[in-house]
Amino acid sequence: MDNIGCVKKKIEEIIKKSPVLEDPIHSKNTLEWLLKLNPDADETLKIAALGHDIERAIEDRKIKRKDYRDYDEFKDVHALNSAKILEEIMKGCNVRKELVEDVFFLVSHHETGGDRRVDVLRDADSISFFHANLPYYFVRNGVEETKNRCLWGYRKLPKNLQEVVVKFNYKDKKLESLARAWIAGR
Ligand SMILES: [Fe+2]
Repeated sequence: MDNIGCVKKKIEEIIKKSPVLEDPIHSKNTLEWLLKLNPDADETLKIAALGHDIERAIEDRKIKRKDYRDYDEFKDVHALNSAKILEEIMKGCNVRKELVEDVFFLVSHHETGGDRRVDVLRDADSISFFHANLPYYFVRNGVEETKNRCLWGYRKLPKNLQEVVVKFNYKDKKLESLARAWIAGR
């Protein structure tokens, strides 16, 4: 197996064991959205998409929401923590230094964006929350918390992707009507 294949396999193995049920789905779904938004995405962007939330899958390294008063601060530390874990994995697979640094940059900025490439990663992650995670998040966190998370995620999306999200259907029709009402009343 080549070095990149080694990294992808390790990411998949770790995320498969995540206590957050939707993490394996979200990892692959973010990659799918990345390729929809940028069919020419390079290998480091693909690795970043698959592994951007990896810290959540490692119980003794994940950061906890309750330790941060501010949600954006929590998300920034989450991004940096995932970047560090991916750096270790890539070094363990003997990936070239420039590629390791590139993935570190992409993942540590995936919540906020910053340049053209990292913006695509941020958008793919943000839209995947609505496409893949939202029903799971709703079951776990209830109405108020899900509303806040939805509005936070929706505001981050560019207008063209906001228009896509509004049309998403959910099996849970209560969630679907709530999500549409939150977005419409924002
Ligand atoms: Fe994510």
